[in-house]
This record gives sequence, C-alpha cells and structure tokens, in this order.
Amino acid sequence: MIKALIFDLDGVIVDTAKYHYLAWKELADSLGFEFTKQHNERLKGVSRVKSLEILLEIGNLSFSEEKKHEFAVNKNKKYLEYVTKMDSSEILSGVINFIEDAKANNIKIALGSASKNAMTILKQIDILKYFDAVIDGTSVSKAKPDPEVFLKGAEALGMKPSECIVFEDAQAGVEAAINGGFYCVGIGGEEELGEANYLMSGFENINYKKIIEIIL
Ligand code: BG6
Ligand code: MG
Repeated sequence: MIKALIFDLDGVIVDTAKYHYLAWKELADSLGFEFTKQHNERLKGVSRVKSLEILLEIGNLSFSEEKKHEFAVNKNKKYLEYVTKMDSSEILSGVINFIEDAKANNIKIALGSASKNAMTILKQIDILKYFDAVIDGTSVSKAKPDPEVFLKGAEALGMKPSECIVFEDAQAGVEAAINGGFYCVGIGGEEELGEANYLMSGFENINYKKIIEIIL
C-alpha cells in the first residue's frame, strides 16, 4: 500500500536544469571549450563535484583540487544568482495540484534531492510547507544512483520503501529509487528512464488517484 511520495526537485518540481546549464556554460566558456545542452543532460541528477568532473572531462582538461574547488564555488555563486530570482511561476505545471490532492488523501510528502541548494529553492518558490521531510545534498554522503537519499526520506516519514513512490527525471535518480526498492515514476522518456516502473511526461493530466490505479 502506498503511503508516501518522494519527489526529486530539479526537473521534477522546477526546471532548474537551464540555470545549472548557464552557470556551467560560463565556466566552460572561460576555459575555452564548448558545452552544449546535450552535454548538460549528463549532469542531471549528478552531484556538484561529479558534475564538475564530467564538465572537465568534456573539455579534456585537468586541474588541482584547489582550483576545482574554486570553480565549483564560483559556479554555485552564478547558479544562486539565477535561483534567487525565481518565483512560484517556475513550478512545473500540475505539480502543486498533484501534491495537494495526495495530501488530502493523507499521503506523506518528502523531498529527495542531490542539491545542496534545495532548501533555498523550496523557500524561494514558497513550497517548503508541503513537505513532511526534506532530504537533500547536505544530508547524504552517497550520491544517486546510491539509494541513500530516498532511504533517508522514507525513514524520516516512518515508511518502508515499498510504501513510497519516487518521482525522478534523471537516470541516476531512477536507478537510485529502483536500487532502494521503491516504486519509481520517471518523468521523461523511455531512452534514459526505461528502468522506471512507469513513465509520464509531467503532472499535467494526472492526479494521485490515477497513479495509484495505474500501479496497483
Ligand atoms: C541535482 C541536479 O538535483 O542537483 C544536478 O539535477 C546538480 O544537475 C545537483 O548538479 C547538485 O546541485 P547543487 O545545487 O548542490 O549544485
Ligand atoms: Mg532531477
């Protein structure tokens, strides 16, 4: 029986991938190599440190740990400039109705995000109030596809993984959910998220009850 929903943040609740992209692109530009939107796909769901490693691999460059730290700090400053200008109009269509409907059915809600900026974003777009638990990049030691973030989310809600649905848009996130024994709804296409138990394009034409009907 499903008793809780665990949401990824970036790409599920808000489209912040574009801001991550712009901030990383600025670094790539300054280092003199091309960083495309297609390249950016590889950074979805991946931690900041790992994202930088992938970026530098794309540019075929290597730097000292100190320099890499400086790059990551500067990228995050740039990212926060975008994020702190966001408002609730940037919440993806249908998500809030979906969450409100689930809550009206006594379902618990948690966040399971790799981002260390998750709290800032939830407050910025005024949706922190919906979450019974928030597990983010500041509370985990193992990045997705390790299931730690979702296991901690389930634990904080007092639920077993089999009682939770995880909503994810990234391959690493879907893998994490499946590895942890969760039911996983992928937001996106078959090619990247084929491992998910069910796929949908977004929350626009679906409500909590329909999802339950589909998965039972
Ligand atoms: C994930 C994003 O949610 O968070 C990744 O999909 C990002 O693209 C990761 O790198 C870490 O985010 P932050 O905000 O801690 O740099
Ligand atoms: Mg995501």
